[in-house]
Amino acid sequence: MQIITTKKELQAIVRACKAEGKTIGLVPTMGALHAGHASLVKRAVEDNNVCFVSVFVNPTQFNNKEDLAKYPRNIQRDAELLQSIGADFVFAPTPEEMYSAEEMNTTFSFDFNGLDQVMEGKMRPGHFNGVVQVVSRLFYLVQPDKAYFGEKDFQQLAIIHHMVEHSSMAGTFGDLQIIDCPIVREESGLALSSRNERLSESEKATAVNISRILFESLKWAKEAAATVDAVQQRVIDAINAIEGLEVEYYEIVDQTTLLPTDTFRHAIGCVTVYCGPVRLIDNIKYEEA
Ligand code: PAF
Repeated sequence: MQIITTKKELQAIVRACKAEGKTIGLVPTMGALHAGHASLVKRAVEDNNVCFVSVFVNPTQFNNKEDLAKYPRNIQRDAELLQSIGADFVFAPTPEEMYSAEEMNTTFSFDFNGLDQVMEGKMRPGHFNGVVQVVSRLFYLVQPDKAYFGEKDFQQLAIIHHMVEHSSMAGTFGDLQIIDCPIVREESGLALSSRNERLSESEKATAVNISRILFESLKWAKEAAATVDAVQQRVIDAINAIEGLEVEYYEIVDQTTLLPTDTFRHAIGCVTVYCGPVRLIDNIKYEEA
């Protein structure tokens, strides 16, 4: 496995792979890798001739400087994990290598077709502009055939699909396929997240209640006369009733438009919860698409 830190070197390697007719899989990450990332990488290794993983804590997608400063970083440990599961190349640039000073300080503009006006987009203004800025640049540099993203960040995934399939950028990434990968959970049900590293043992035990309540709500949705509004509120109340947890939002929305829905068909519930100081997200599908 080779670690690359410059765009120039990356592009030379990509050119060589393409010249040999190799298919390329890309897994974009911000490092602090866990078994969820590993599942994406294993799939990319299986599906493609070469697997690139980017490890880059993208400053332009953080609207909160403290959150950026506290984001866990451990490239040594990440590299060991990636090597052990068969990744071929790790791209780990500095922010200065990735962006010009101007790019770093101006908001990347993009038409999200409204997908950024809800949930994470509402709570973290500019977040998705930064995500699309870095992901589109990675697609441009690596020219992958397939790129792998986890469903835990469901809204991010919807926006990336929009970028590749429907936006003014559609078609600029060749035949790129976006591969949605299921959430990986601990045995307790807690969704794996790099942010879990910031939870104390007791906070972690408290955080388990988030997924427990989401899974329970699948049963509530099947009760006679259950409505979306009532289940939504019941989830919020149940999570807020646990000491140490505070819901920022819980919204049951349509899986494609991310707009509020009054039916459980094709619906997903997306939650953000503060567990102490740590902001966690999770989601649950009420009915598969
Ligand atoms: O999901 C993440 O880790 C990040 O948002 C991503 C897609 C790597 C872009 O920085």
